[in-house]
Amino acid sequence: MTVSTVYKQGWTMDDVHWNLFDSTKVEPNLLAAVKAAALVEYNAPDYVSYLKRVFHETEPGALDWIERWGAEESQHGRALGRWAEMADPTFKLEEAFARFRTGYKPTHFAGDDTTSIRGSRRGEMIARCVVESGTSSYYTAIRDATEEPVLQEIAGRIAADEYRHYKLFYDMLHAQPEPDLGFWRKLGIAIGRVRESDDDELAYAFYCANVSPEKEAITPYKRSKYSKLSAHASMAVYHRRHIQKLVQMVVKVIGADPHGWLAGLAGAVLWRRLQAKSA
Ligand SMILES: [Fe+2]
Ligand SMILES: [Fe+2]
Repeated sequence: MTVSTVYKQGWTMDDVHWNLFDSTKVEPNLLAAVKAAALVEYNAPDYVSYLKRVFHETEPGALDWIERWGAEESQHGRALGRWAEMADPTFKLEEAFARFRTGYKPTHFAGDDTTSIRGSRRGEMIARCVVESGTSSYYTAIRDATEEPVLQEIAGRIAADEYRHYKLFYDMLHAQPEPDLGFWRKLGIAIGRVRESDDDELAYAFYCANVSPEKEAITPYKRSKYSKLSAHASMAVYHRRHIQKLVQMVVKVIGADPHGWLAGLAGAVLWRRLQAKSA
């Protein structure tokens, strides 16, 4: 068993060993998935504004943490984008991102509502923990799947950040002076957030990242098609152990035993669902 490097928080683009890049080890499916991930990560500033509205009157320090979190997410986008530009010089992060932003605008980002779309700050933190569980597992799976040294390093650095984000939001969840939510409500929020992975965000990011502006007219966006292509490109990196870790992190957030029956059942169901989606 190999021991992976544990990367510390606060790394910068200059810390990455870009000179080790090996174009012969780039795998096309994974490249397509990384391009799409870069756009989603790079879109963090909108989420920062939204979270700051929701947490504007909470404990001191919360807004600073949200800012720092957003800066790290944006850097994930820049690092993945730069790697994708090295692997495919026709890809341009800023250009693809501009198209993504024009076409993808969730309503809760645009308004000035200070209430979370999850109904409460605790609900918001549960949803955030689900996302960070997903990204932490995803980048760990990419790190384990790729043989390209720079992508291994970037994915390792990002996975470590995502795990710290999970812990940050987990602590913020329990620091909220609101009453605790019932188990079924928490489970409902978690399942709802997992289901949102089917929405436009990932499919449209995959489209903007992988269909060039010149080809847009003859290759129009179709959500079901690009949702499938996106799933197909990204699911190939997963092994069962990555999915079990993801499920354990989510199960812990809703207050159940990460090693109990619920985690076992949810892991088996999610694994089968992912395999069906990527088939
Ligand atoms: Fe991220
Ligand atoms: Fe994150």
